[in-house]
Amino acid sequence: MGLNLCVLASGSGSNLKAIVNAHKTGKLSSRVVLVISNNSASGAMQTAKKNHIPSIHLSAKLFVDQASFDKEFLSLLKKFKVDLIVLAGYMKMISPAVTKKFKNKIINIHPALLPAFGGKGMYGMNVHEAVIEAKVKITGATVHFVNDVYDNGAVIVQKEVRVKPGDDAETLKRRVLRTEHKLYPEAIKLFEENRVILRSNKVYIKEDK
Ligand code: GAR
Repeated sequence: MGLNLCVLASGSGSNLKAIVNAHKTGKLSSRVVLVISNNSASGAMQTAKKNHIPSIHLSAKLFVDQASFDKEFLSLLKKFKVDLIVLAGYMKMISPAVTKKFKNKIINIHPALLPAFGGKGMYGMNVHEAVIEAKVKITGATVHFVNDVYDNGAVIVQKEVRVKPGDDAETLKRRVLRTEHKLYPEAIKLFEENRVILRSNKVYIKEDK
């Protein structure tokens, strides 16, 4: 069954585009019903507008305190009947008020093989720079559950990407993004097919029928 997705994004929004395209081409029944960005000028907001998806600029800076921000965020999720919150390059933490209400219904994509190259400060280019610096041969992308600890929720799916000789952070970022664009719709598909089981903070994927 198709799910109503709320995508949160801060940057260029290429993962959002991949999810929107997966719906358009029939690969996903789930569809993006709402895009929220803390950055009004983000590519993600433009992608949403181009595709006639409601998009809202929501930044904690515009609210008197975290509680009023959370209240507005939760009321939007309710209004748009959101089933799954999808973080796609969202550079802010999700507060406990939201993780509690949407327990096991928030996922994120990370541009490395968690738990490697994760944690505080590890986002976007920082991750690829750290991978190059560490001279590892394999990196990748991870889709995981979001809880109250940064990059600590259970891993749902991962895919490896080879680091090639001569790669720099920029070439690596591009190659990892191509993998993310396939992996994220695949992960969402597992949710719409009800195949993701979480037990003791570990994920099990049910067999395809
Ligand atoms: C993606 O590589 C995503 O994995 C990363 O930000 C990029 C956003 O790209 N997210 C993180 O680093 C989260 N820790 P996009 O805006 O083009 O989708």
